[in-house]
Amino acid sequence: MPALLKNHIAVITGAGSGIGRAIAVGYAHEGAQVLVLDINGETAAKTAADIRAGSGKAQHFTLDVTDRAACRATAAKVATEVGQVSILVNNAGINRRNAFTADPDAVVKDWQDIMAINLNGVFNVTHAFLGALRATKGRIVNIASIQSFMHVRTPNSPAYTSAKHGVLGFTRALAAELGKDGVRVNAIGPGLIETPLNAQVRANNPELVKIFLDHTPLGRAGKPEDIAGPAIFLASDLSAYVTGTIVMADGGYRTI
Ligand SMILES: NC(=O)c1ccc[n+]([C@@H]2O[C@H](COP(=O)([O-])OP(=O)(O)OC[C@H]3O[C@@H](n4cnc5c(N)ncnc54)[C@H](O)[C@@H]3O)[C@@H](O)[C@H]2O)c1
Repeated sequence: MPALLKNHIAVITGAGSGIGRAIAVGYAHEGAQVLVLDINGETAAKTAADIRAGSGKAQHFTLDVTDRAACRATAAKVATEVGQVSILVNNAGINRRNAFTADPDAVVKDWQDIMAINLNGVFNVTHAFLGALRATKGRIVNIASIQSFMHVRTPNSPAYTSAKHGVLGFTRALAAELGKDGVRVNAIGPGLIETPLNAQVRANNPELVKIFLDHTPLGRAGKPEDIAGPAIFLASDLSAYVTGTIVMADGGYRTI
């Protein structure tokens, strides 16, 4: 099979680690020119260097997705220095674990930070690259969650669940509006994927992880690489008639 993403320029936010990094590597393997964006410039540079070492095309940009002006500036720089972006993966995200009834200052900070990154960040980056995506009949892939549908008590902040519901709503709204421009907008709903995002909660709550995996038909946690395949599918012409939907990559968690 020919490279599925040849002649595409793909931006992936939060690609210095975990799921974003795996998607960046997968996209490069399929022939895309990959732009690795992360608030952590060092890890972003490492992802891009590792891709280049494997003969892929990649470069990195340091970007905080909460900074709307910086998102616009990065999009302008990419347009001038690299070209027109045709694939955007909104992946950057954080989680915190305080319950709503925890220390009020912590709860307020969690709400602000999680919304700023996990939901407003998706808006900021998408808005910044909108011109390029419309011009190229591009593809947007938003990293949502099983928490786009439900709350999971691993423990988890209510802000995370709220933001991920918002990401799915944003996906549907943009798919409806941008379909006439040939832009496809979809989401991926990962289940429990072993990344630094949840390393601590997995280590501290083995009994909750067991409950989670007992509810997962495939009986295991996912690896970041498990998300790369669905992300390639949604960015490529294999999904030419797919928009406004969410592809669950959760080992079947939401099925039972
Ligand atoms: N790991 C899971 O089980 C799981 C499940 C469902 C959804 N997700 C989602 O997948 C996405 C990636 O998470 P992960 O598990 O790979 O986590 P991770 O912590 O390994 O990676 C997240 C990356 O986002 C970057 N980032 C954080 N804040 C940023 C900001 N303001 N601007 C730019 N980059 C920023 C981090 O530096 C990091 O490189 C997130 O949206 C997360 O909510 C993860």
